[in-house]
Amino acid sequence: MRIRLNVPPGLIVLTVPPLSLYLHLPWCVRKCPYCDFNSHALKGELPEADYVTALVCDLDQDLPRVAGRRVESVFFGGGTPSLFRPESIARILGEARRRLPFAADVEVTLEANPGTVERGRFAEYRAAGITRLSIGVQSFNPRHLEALGRIHGTAEAVHAAEEAHAAGLANFNLDLMYGLPGQDVWEARTDMERALSLAPAHLSHYQLTLEPNTPFYIHPPRLPHDEQVWQMQQECQTLLHNCGYAQYEISAYTRAGRQCRHNVNYWRFGDYLGIGAGAHGKLTSANRDTIVRLWKVRHPAAYLQDAGTPAGIGGITEVTAGDRAFEFMLNRLRLMQAFAAADFESATGLSFSRVRATLEQARTAGLMEMTDGQWRTTPRGQTYLNDLQARFLPEAAAASLDTPDAG
Ligand SMILES: C[S@@+](CC[C@H](N)C(=O)[O-])C[C@H]1O[C@@H](n2cnc3c(N)ncnc32)[C@H](O)[C@@H]1O
Ligand code: SF4
Repeated sequence: MRIRLNVPPGLIVLTVPPLSLYLHLPWCVRKCPYCDFNSHALKGELPEADYVTALVCDLDQDLPRVAGRRVESVFFGGGTPSLFRPESIARILGEARRRLPFAADVEVTLEANPGTVERGRFAEYRAAGITRLSIGVQSFNPRHLEALGRIHGTAEAVHAAEEAHAAGLANFNLDLMYGLPGQDVWEARTDMERALSLAPAHLSHYQLTLEPNTPFYIHPPRLPHDEQVWQMQQECQTLLHNCGYAQYEISAYTRAGRQCRHNVNYWRFGDYLGIGAGAHGKLTSANRDTIVRLWKVRHPAAYLQDAGTPAGIGGITEVTAGDRAFEFMLNRLRLMQAFAAADFESATGLSFSRVRATLEQARTAGLMEMTDGQWRTTPRGQTYLNDLQARFLPEAAAASLDTPDAG
């Protein structure tokens, strides 16, 4: 659903993009030593009913910001959403549907940890309204699973994928990581072969990164050399390609028609409501010509207490013109699909002239290509994505306007 006001032709107008709903469920059985997500080891009983009530109050508070809009996708992320019973997921979806219209073909994803998947559980999630699963496998190698502090072994990882098929949820993603402590290229390739043998509709392949404030950052494990990591990525990409999985984003591969609509909406600079502890939202108002970001208090205890009240809002900020251009590029350049000047203008409300010089410089550097007015990140641009994105930082973009031949 795109909303455009009546405006004279040629005028650049901020257009309201599709709307997604993100729900954050912040608990895990144990905290993995590499993870910097807002996730917390569960101590004692899961406050399931109270948290569901808090989510509904939170949603009620945000509702006026999205009046009249339709939800195209829903994503239960975490944390480990599969710690929540199917009845709770059904209740959240029921309450959300009572408040907001859902698209007839709405995509509803739930993240699941293989260590939490009891027999029959996925079928119950499906009955609750889940249409897609994202299963955090990471590896099938017991040595690596242990080094990563995972709560599951190889058998549970395989079982989770089989359960997904058995439940009629063939539209599932497997998360795999590579560049793991002590991993060699053969092991990374073997992980990918095992993943592909389970016939996921979608595969996310992440290089392990050492995130500040995690145990892995403080006491870094021995990681493979850069050349080995590069080879892992190349060989796994070839395996994916040979099995009919096309790369559509820097870390995401899929069989035809199975792209994650929710994530694609983020990467196209779409809108989303962020409900739950620490959840972030981004909302466009065409008639006010504003884009705002708002986020909720991060700690689950504070969230349980304050959700749905002003104290439950962690912060709210308007995205300035310079930031709009950077944030659009930060997201959009991750996708393999090309974009046109009009896509930039409708999503940001800014003239394409703001980024044209920087794009041209990136093209000269071999990081972008342009055909028939459609801009696309090159393979070299994917390799140096951080550098490419940094060119659009407000200060860097301003400098490039001053020196159009640099770069
Ligand atoms: C928020 S987690 C949710 C999945 C679920 N909680 C699980 O771990 O089973 C999403 C994914 O991010 C990836 N991830 C988390 N930390 C990472 C890191 N430091 N480096 C690379 N990938 C990471 C993992 O593949 C993980 O499955
Ligand atoms: S289970 Fe997932 S969200 Fe929880 S700590 Fe591990 S990687 Fe992070």
